[in-house]
Amino acid sequence: MMKDDVIIITGAAMGLGLATAQLLAKEGAKLVLVDFNEEALNRTVENLKSTYPEVKIISLLADVSKEDEVKNYVDTAVNEFGRIDGFYNNAGIEGKQASVTNYDLDIFKKVIDINLMGVYYGLRYVIPVMQKQKYGRIVNVSSVGGIRGVLNQMPYVASKHAVSGMTKNAALEYGKDGILTNAIAPGAILTPMVAEAFKQINPDDPKAAEKEYASHNPTRALGDPKDVASVVAYLLSKTNGYVSGQTIAIDGGESNMYGSPE
Ligand SMILES: NC(=O)c1ccc[n+]([C@@H]2O[C@H](COP(=O)([O-])OP(=O)(O)OC[C@H]3O[C@@H](n4cnc5c(N)ncnc54)[C@H](O)[C@@H]3O)[C@@H](O)[C@H]2O)c1
Repeated sequence: MMKDDVIIITGAAMGLGLATAQLLAKEGAKLVLVDFNEEALNRTVENLKSTYPEVKIISLLADVSKEDEVKNYVDTAVNEFGRIDGFYNNAGIEGKQASVTNYDLDIFKKVIDINLMGVYYGLRYVIPVMQKQKYGRIVNVSSVGGIRGVLNQMPYVASKHAVSGMTKNAALEYGKDGILTNAIAPGAILTPMVAEAFKQINPDDPKAAEKEYASHNPTRALGDPKDVASVVAYLLSKTNGYVSGQTIAIDGGESNMYGSPE
C-alpha cells in the first residue's frame, strides 16, 4: 500500500509512533523518524533495521516545540528523499494530573507548546512541500480528550481540541492542493504514556487502575498500538482518496457512551 512513500513520523521512538513506524517499515515506506529521546530513538532505528534490512530510514533528534528544529527535520527529509508523501504529526505529552485551579502553570505551558504549537509548526513547514507536489496525506494526533473533557487534564484537553480544530482548517485550506488532513482520537491505548498516567492515578497499584479503566470501555479492554497503526497507515496512504478534516476515534466505542456499561 505504501511502498517507497516518504513518511515523517514525530514521536517515533515509542508508543503510537513506534507502532506505525513498524507497520510502515514492513510495507516498504521510506521513513523519517523524529524524536527528542536519543536513546529510545537509536534503539528503535536499530530494531527496525535488523527486522527490515531493506528499509530506508533517517532519524533526527528534534523537540517539536522548537520551530527551528521542526524546520530542520522537514528540510532534511526533503534533502534526503526529495519529497514528503505522508506526515504523522504524533509527538505529544500528557502533563500531570491536577484540578483546574491547582494546575502547575509551567507544565500547562509545556503541554500547549508541545501538543499545540508542535503540531502547528509541523503543518507550517510540511504543507508547502506537499503543495508543490500537489499531493500529501497528514494525520494529526488528537485524543478522546479532543472530543470530550477528561478530569484533571485541562491543558491536555485544550491542546487536543486545538489539534482537531487545526485539522479542520488545514483540510479546508489545502484540499485543493491534493492534501488530505485528518486527526485520530485514540482512547486508552496501552503505551508508555498511558502506563505513566495509571502510575499517577494509583502509585501503589497501577495495574489495578488499568483494570478499573478498562472495565468502563464497551470492549472491557484497552487498545493496542497496532490498532491505531492500521488506521493511521490507511489515512497516510493513497488508498485514502476522500476522507479529510475528520477526527476519527479509535477507542472501542467509548466516546459514544452515556452512563456506565452493564
Ligand atoms: N496512548 C494513548 O492512549 C493516547 C490516547 C490519546 C492520544 N494519544 C496521543 O498519541 C501521541 C503519542 O502518545 P503515546 O501514547 O505513544 O506516548 P509515548 O509517551 O508512549 O510516546 C511519545 C513519544 O513522543 C516523544 N516526544 C514527546 N514529546 C516530544 C517532543 N517535544 N519532541 C519530540 N518528541 C517528543 C517521546 O519521546 C516518545 O517517544 C500523543 O500525542 C498523545 O497525546 C495517546
